[in-house]
This record gives sequence, structure tokens and C-alpha cells, in this order.
Amino acid sequence: MTRVLSGIQPTGEIHLGNYVGAVQHWVLDQHVHDSFFCVVDLHALTSEQDPALLRAKTLQMATFLLAGGLDPDVCTLFVQSHVPQHTELSWLLECVASYGELRRMTQFKDKTVAGDEGSARVGLFTYPVLMAADILAYQADRVPVGDDQRQHLELCRDLAIRFNTRYGDTFVVPEAAIPPVGARIMDLQDPTQKMSKSRSSPQGKILALEAPEVITRKIMRAMTDADNEVRFDRDAKPGVSNLLELLAVAGGGTTTDLATGYSGYGALKKDVAEAVVTYLEPVRTRYAELIEAPDHVLKVLDAGADKARSTAGPNLAKARAAMGLLPGSEMG
Ligand code: TRP
Repeated sequence: MTRVLSGIQPTGEIHLGNYVGAVQHWVLDQHVHDSFFCVVDLHALTSEQDPALLRAKTLQMATFLLAGGLDPDVCTLFVQSHVPQHTELSWLLECVASYGELRRMTQFKDKTVAGDEGSARVGLFTYPVLMAADILAYQADRVPVGDDQRQHLELCRDLAIRFNTRYGDTFVVPEAAIPPVGARIMDLQDPTQKMSKSRSSPQGKILALEAPEVITRKIMRAMTDADNEVRFDRDAKPGVSNLLELLAVAGGGTTTDLATGYSGYGALKKDVAEAVVTYLEPVRTRYAELIEAPDHVLKVLDAGADKARSTAGPNLAKARAAMGLLPGSEMG
């Protein structure tokens, strides 16, 4: 059976793009593949975090994933820091990765101010190695990620291949599973840009758990253009095309078919708002229930971490031995 692994940062706010781009795919994957999903709290430490808030956001993200349809009876859901094998393997892989290849990672370059790398956290620099450890510790075959993670996945593959060549066959070399570009949700106020947690304005993004009135207001005020003609054309009509994309994602159908039958933007926006609100309603309801039962969520996460440790442990032991570390009698 194909093994799938993916991770998501405890961002605190989960926008529609995360839900559509990640969670929905995971929910489908869990039924067909042996699936591991983790909330990557250690990766979150690469930027400034308030400790109490990080704890809350980690629990919220796990709760959201359950509300969105991950079923702990069929997949393994856990928190990255609960499985110490990730950080241990990360060190081993740091001794396989080179400074030069990490230096080329565009995310590191984007997140550091040019000329000010000196004050960047080392964790931000080694971030992709920890991500590779997340994946290789489980011998994952397939890694569903957004397009922005393509380069990190490539690095992970390079590290696995190099490790296997240097120390003998140890790791499965994983494939990235990147959703097609067409299904991208764009910023409502700047439809040429991706809807993004950090770069979009509050009016530009729809949060998965926000009130229906707020979602409706944002969609009604989405940026379109002046000619009032509804047709799907990403280049000429990015705003209208994004609305059609949203309608397709939330209500089904194809963007070109959906475009017919509208004589103006008002009616389209009203339908999009209704479809998106209806689409998110079950998640919102389930989240509201689950967030009142944190003990239940914590129990799910404990069981997930147990399963994750028992999968990652033997793989890590293999890597340790391959590299020549002396086995101790207490090692897993
Ligand atoms: N870096 C990923 C992101 O920001 C999150 C992540 C961490 C991840 N570890 C992973 C994704 C392992 C897939 C597999 O989206």
C-alpha cells in the first residue's frame, strides 16, 4: 500500500486555500493510502511565536483537521514534536545535506532580508532538512504538498538518494503530489496573487471558520472589472475567473459551464457566497463541537503519536546503524 505523509503548520488562521489545497486532498488520500499527517509545530518555531499561542494554535489546527474530515480510525494524525525521531533524523540528514544546497532554497531567501542573513535563525536555514526527516522517517512514497514546497521535496529526494548511495539502501525516495494549478484560489482583492495567509489582506482571503456574514461580505466586495461580462479567462478577467473557480470548488461543475447563464457580477457573487458558505458550514459546525472537547482531540493526538513513533523508530534505527553509530542497548 502506498504510504502518504504530509504536514501543515499551526498557522492559527486557516484560509479557504489551505482547506481546498491540502485538507480536502488528505481526506481523500486517507481512504486509499496508508496516511500520516502531522501538525508541524517544530517548523513553526523557525519564526517568532508566543509560547501559549503556539500551543493553542497547534491544538486548533489538529481540531480543524479532524473537523475537516480526517478520521483517526483510518489515518494517523499527530503533532510533529511528539515524535522525537523527526529531530534525531534531521541531525543525521544535516550531516548529509550541504550548506550550498540549503543556501539555494528560495523560501529561505524569501524569508530573510537580503544582507541580513546573519540574524536569521539557523532553524529557518535547516527547515527543509527537518521536512525531509518528517518524510523519510516514514518511508513515505507520496507527499501531497502545495506548489511552493516543490523545491523542498526535490531536496528531500536528493538527500534520500545521496544517503542510499553513501550508506546503502535505507530510504524510500518520495514523489511529490502537487495539485494542478487550475484549482488555485486567488486573493479576492488582488486576483493575480494566490490567496495567502501572510500576503493577503483580510479582505483578500476567506478564512475557513469565519462567520457566514463575513464570508458573504468579502465575496460581494471581491475585485472584478468594469465590463460586467461573466466569462472564464484568467488573463483578461482574473477576478471573475477566480469567482467562477470558487463556485466550481464549492459547488461542483466546470468554470466554463458555470459562466453561462450570468448576465452580471451581482448574481454571480451572490451564488458564490452562498456556495462557499454552504461548503464550509459542516466544518464550522464540527469544529465548534470539537474545540469544546480538547481532551478528546488530545487523546486522538496521543494515539497518533504512538503509531507514528512505532513506524518512525525502526526506520531511524536503520539510518543510525547505516551511518555507523554504535548501538546502545536502550535504543529503539
Ligand atoms: N513545509 C511545509 C509547508 O510549509 C510543511 C511541512 C513540514 C511538510 N513538514 C512536511 C509538508 C512534510 C509535507 C511533508 O507547507
